[in-house]
Amino acid sequence: MNDIAIPMGTVTFHDHQPEALSLLDTVVEGLSRQPRAIPPKFFYDARGSELFERICAQPEYYPPTVESRLLTDIADEVASLTGTGRVLIEPGAGSATKVRLLLDALRPSAFVPMDISFEFLKQSAIALAAEYPWLPVHATCIDFTHSMPIPDEAPDGPRLVFFPGSSLGNFTPEEAADFLRMSHDTLGHGGMLLIGVDTKKPAHILNAAYNDAAGVTAEFNRNLLHRMRRELDTDIDPDAFDHHAFYNADQGRIEMHLVSRKAQRVRVDGHGFELAAGESLHTENSYKYAPQEFIAMAASAGFAPVRHWLADDDLFGVYLLATA
Ligand SMILES: C[S@@+](CC[C@H](N)C(=O)[O-])C[C@H]1O[C@@H](n2cnc3c(N)ncnc32)[C@H](O)[C@@H]1O
Repeated sequence: MNDIAIPMGTVTFHDHQPEALSLLDTVVEGLSRQPRAIPPKFFYDARGSELFERICAQPEYYPPTVESRLLTDIADEVASLTGTGRVLIEPGAGSATKVRLLLDALRPSAFVPMDISFEFLKQSAIALAAEYPWLPVHATCIDFTHSMPIPDEAPDGPRLVFFPGSSLGNFTPEEAADFLRMSHDTLGHGGMLLIGVDTKKPAHILNAAYNDAAGVTAEFNRNLLHRMRRELDTDIDPDAFDHHAFYNADQGRIEMHLVSRKAQRVRVDGHGFELAAGESLHTENSYKYAPQEFIAMAASAGFAPVRHWLADDDLFGVYLLATA
């Protein structure tokens, strides 16, 4: 752990080295299986984190705008239900943009932003601590699919996990329930969860959101291949793959794929893979939940609903839940 004191604020850094879980092993395993797939957490190196910020500024990608407006509107009401002075924990905090909409109302005793993308996390934690000198910040680099360790320096007291951006949708429903159970354990008695979850809606809105006209989501998807070239011994050609994203209504999820433009052989660290023209590498799911579906899943993980809010013709939901 190292501490950085910046004018009027303090940040501590905790690196649990989630990358030790290895891009190479995952890529080799993911290219070997049928259908081929690589989990979305590998999108997020420094370049991937920057591209995600650009996705959030695309007009078709409605979730950040809609969720941010809703959080602004409900911040005081949320604080009246949670009280102030909690330890605020944000898994997958990224740029920590949305938490800024809540900090003045929630007045947490400390903020624990967690992310897999360490350089990006460092920069956003330093910027946040400079902006909120009264707030101790404990930036923690982790893989939240494995664990959610709270640094020893964080104060005692009731906890609040904030999980916006519908990141829960990147898990399968079974994984999402596991993540909620892990959050429940981290929160302990008297804990609360404030979570943003995208709703089911007409396919044309969803398809447009993941196929922005400027091609930023396509670039984000292909960054996985650029990252492989930067970090692995591979001849994979990012330009030999197309971005393909669509709403799979049967599964209730957006699927994102990289589709091989031609029959090709790809080499990764001494392993060879034959890809047919049109064959795809599945890179992300984004499950959408009707409010009652999400509330039932959270209940199965031990959470009791406190209140929820829906924005703009039910485009997006924010839910406040409590541990028993
Ligand atoms: C979709 S972005 C959401 C960012 C932000 N919470 C928001 O709502 O705008 C997902 C964030 O989670 C991080 N992330 C993705 N998978 C992760 C994992 N397995 N462990 C920790 N962080 C992860 C990414 O680096 C990224 O910052």
